[in-house]
Amino acid sequence: MSLSVRKAPGQAWGVTGCVAVLLAAFLSGPVAAQAVKGKGKSVTGAVPVAAASAPRAGEVLAGARKSDDERCQECHGVDGHGFGQSASSEGRHPKLGGLPADYIVKQVADFRSGARKHDVMTVMARTVDPADIADIAAYFASQKPMAGDGKGDDPLGRKLFESGDPARGVDACVSCHGPAGKGVAGLGAASPPIGGQEWRYLEKQLLDWRSGDRSNSRDGVMNRIARSLSDEEVKALANYLAGQR
Ligand code: HEC
Ligand code: HEC
Repeated sequence: MSLSVRKAPGQAWGVTGCVAVLLAAFLSGPVAAQAVKGKGKSVTGAVPVAAASAPRAGEVLAGARKSDDERCQECHGVDGHGFGQSASSEGRHPKLGGLPADYIVKQVADFRSGARKHDVMTVMARTVDPADIADIAAYFASQKPMAGDGKGDDPLGRKLFESGDPARGVDACVSCHGPAGKGVAGLGAASPPIGGQEWRYLEKQLLDWRSGDRSNSRDGVMNRIARSLSDEEVKALANYLAGQR
């Protein structure tokens, strides 16, 4: 957990950094915004550390080392490809490989602020120096995209994914998560890849969105979409998505 910010002299934060800051502020919603505001107040005149350092463009090589030092790889895999439905993880540890870096940064910030709840990840997020998260996110984002076993041909899951059920407010997942759930290039945190993710993790997230246990999507969009899904439909979606290559 190094506290140093390794910014070489003359190295500018650059346009991407600014866009990332704006995007992170835009995506993180009222809870995180408040937390940042609160921090800003307590250190009058100073730039809040989390806001200034977390969203900068990360360094992949530094991230490879830090994600090992910080033990992220123990649960998410060395290359962010998880451990499948193995006895130790039972598929509850999500794959991080190929997730957009700004999505990873947002999730860790949400675990840290409490906007997203999970006992283990809250502790992890609060112990890692926010300055290191950008590098760790860059490392996992640079790994090859997550992929399933190709056995995702669940007709109900496919139908809901591709067409939704507008009468019930279930928007077609494909419109935001892209064909086969591979994410829409360029949308970053607004379009996380979910095709090829772990089955049990997907099921849990959909149940958490439905119950409100997870509520960190912007404007509650995922809560609205999951609200009327039945258990059978949640399983069908997890079947379809987890199988996508
Ligand atoms: C002891 C196991 C464990 C360790 C260590 C761990 N994680 Fe996690 N992580 C999890 C679990 C379990 C979840 C799923 C939480 C849930 O169900 O909502 C998760 C979720 C996440 C997510 C959300 C993924 C998504 O698709 O939304 C991110 C990002 C993440 N972890 C990053 C990290 C980083 C970065 C580190 C290291 C600093 C780390 N994790 C260390 C177990 C772990
Ligand atoms: C209007 C856009 C939109 C639509 C439509 C949509 N999603 Fe999402 N979804 C999102 C966003 C944005 C996130 C990330 C929220 C956050 O910041 O945590 C997300 C997150 C998720 C996650 C958690 C991903 C992870 O790695 O933890 C799952 C699972 C998911 N969506 C499934 C679905 C399914 C299934 C459908 C269709 C029934 C669907 N989504 C429709 C925008 C959408």
